[in-house]
Amino acid sequence: MPRHFNYPTWSSLSLDRSGSDPLHVQVFEQIRQAIVQGRISKNSRLPPTRQLAAELGVSRNTVVLVYERLLAEGYVSGRVGAGTYIAAVLPEERSAPAGAPSNAPVAAPVPRHISRRAQAMSELALPPERNATFDLSPTVPALDQLPFEQFAKVSSQYWRSAPAAELGYGSPMGLPELRQQIADYVGEAHGISCLPDQVLVVDGTTQGFVLAGQVLTDHGDRIIVEDPGYITRLAALMGFGADLVPVPIDLQGLDSSRFDSHAPDARLIVASPTNQFPFGSTMPLERRLSLLQWAHERNAWVIEYDFNNAFHFRGRPLPPLAALDHGGRVIYIGNFNRSISPALNLAYLVVPPDLADAFACATQIFSFKASMPTQGVVADFMASGQLAAHIRRMGVRYRERAQLMEHCFRTLVGRDFELSTTGSGLHLSAISRTLIDDAAVSQALLAHRIDVPAISAYCLSEQVRTGFVFGFGNTPAERIAPALALFGSAVANA
Ligand SMILES: Cc1ncc(COP(=O)(O)O)c(C=O)c1O
Repeated sequence: MPRHFNYPTWSSLSLDRSGSDPLHVQVFEQIRQAIVQGRISKNSRLPPTRQLAAELGVSRNTVVLVYERLLAEGYVSGRVGAGTYIAAVLPEERSAPAGAPSNAPVAAPVPRHISRRAQAMSELALPPERNATFDLSPTVPALDQLPFEQFAKVSSQYWRSAPAAELGYGSPMGLPELRQQIADYVGEAHGISCLPDQVLVVDGTTQGFVLAGQVLTDHGDRIIVEDPGYITRLAALMGFGADLVPVPIDLQGLDSSRFDSHAPDARLIVASPTNQFPFGSTMPLERRLSLLQWAHERNAWVIEYDFNNAFHFRGRPLPPLAALDHGGRVIYIGNFNRSISPALNLAYLVVPPDLADAFACATQIFSFKASMPTQGVVADFMASGQLAAHIRRMGVRYRERAQLMEHCFRTLVGRDFELSTTGSGLHLSAISRTLIDDAAVSQALLAHRIDVPAISAYCLSEQVRTGFVFGFGNTPAERIAPALALFGSAVANA
């Protein structure tokens, strides 16, 4: 029996790359069948061409061809590139039923109204979600090495003696003990000097972005973002009608000398100098200082998204922007996703002292609060010194994996790529020196349970760069070489 779904799983279309039918014919036939069988609802919208192309691992032209044919044959209406909807009356239904006048008017589909913001977001071609159980999946820490015992102990102690004040609604800005621990941690580990009053705890990184967007931007404000970048996270800022301005980066991250030509009036810059995704770049000190200087001169804010701040493998890490900033321009966002686990979904912001009230008010209104017991347990885990011990222990393991990854890459894959350094964070990036079909390679590797995202899937403008991101956090050392060997042959055969 055919599966019925309102939200079609486009990636479930299966392509036979060695078959005799060209890919555009296969995709067309499968979508046509899905429409005729009602598995894709009438009047629903086809995904943007870039998105479907990325999901299927085919070129965008292939998808454009398919959409144009669907349009020509009457299965969809609209205009390719400006929203394409499944027709209300399909060609198969147009042959008039017995007794009906053959020239009965065909009702045009009425697009249902959604906000312009949602419309713009649905055009975004978001990259596929990561699969944490596959080898090489980036941004995932070693899930088999989580501090299970220590966490279990701290949790059971917490629940035996949890103070009543923490079991009600709790403070909107976060548990005071945790805010204190975070202030101490960012001070000691990253040189960011702040008071607990400047720290807010939120329910995941995206909430941090939404909160900062609420406080710092107005409708129509321009926000400089890294291109390529983690568009799924950045898109949260579009919810306020802000205009994202992608600025191309290199292996040293954002370069503020390009800001004037892209958005001289930017209200906000989002940067991840420690370890960028997907490029894995680390921003040199001079660029950090110039970026802050630019923000100072233009009266702009900076969100420093320091998502990979726990692990450093080469020398002393450079100070984050928030530690270098003397003008109170930087909003620092960090989380426990790599240092403990993404499953906690616990993030924090460190904001300039004079913004603390505005942030506190917004967080109260929008209720971004994270689970109080989770905050309590993490605060106790930190206070007992066990987070620091876990970071030290895992740092040694990740350093080995990082070195092995770099070595295997150089010996197994060849020189067609420019490699990022594995100085910090949990991923290594390889940027192709020529444009390649990285989406197809990435898609093909999923069948081998290898999750190596394509860099092109993170490009926001037409300036496409191609390559791959390799995570070493959650891949045991003995699986790194076999996974990279498979990757090497997939690239060679592409
Ligand atoms: C694809 C992808 N997944 C996950 C992350 C990390 O997000 P978080 O810090 O919320 O874990 C990033 C960061 O850029 C990313 O690009």
